[in-house]
Amino acid sequence: MNEWTPALSTGVPLLDEHHRRIFQWLAELESAAVEERTLFGVYALVRLKHYTRDHFAAEEALMKSAGYPDLAAHKTEHAAFRTRLGDLQIKSMGQDISTETVKLLTDWLTHHITRVDMAYVPYLKKKQK
Ligand SMILES: [Fe+2]
Ligand SMILES: [Fe+2]
Repeated sequence: MNEWTPALSTGVPLLDEHHRRIFQWLAELESAAVEERTLFGVYALVRLKHYTRDHFAAEEALMKSAGYPDLAAHKTEHAAFRTRLGDLQIKSMGQDISTETVKLLTDWLTHHITRVDMAYVPYLKKKQK
């Protein structure tokens, strides 16, 4: 799956919007890889990094204010993904990003939303009440 679908909804509109945008930039990165548009690929990766950074920060702030107990582990996952994007950005200076790499990033995101993000949903909902 390389696009956001309602099955990935957390029920928090802001976070869903972030997820949708991250998928959009992953799709742009994929088309850059397929079409071998090096410069656009570098640009898409930068956008992806920025959206991801802002999204993770927003998500972590919401989890913190909701008293989510697994915040530390969740943050570790976020940090690992950000490191991965940073490493990829350095690599992208010397070689094009492959479609396999984009697929790995997309798989990570899908898994993260369905397994890790979904775990905070009940806590955020409780807080909203
Ligand atoms: Fe997350
Ligand atoms: Fe997320």
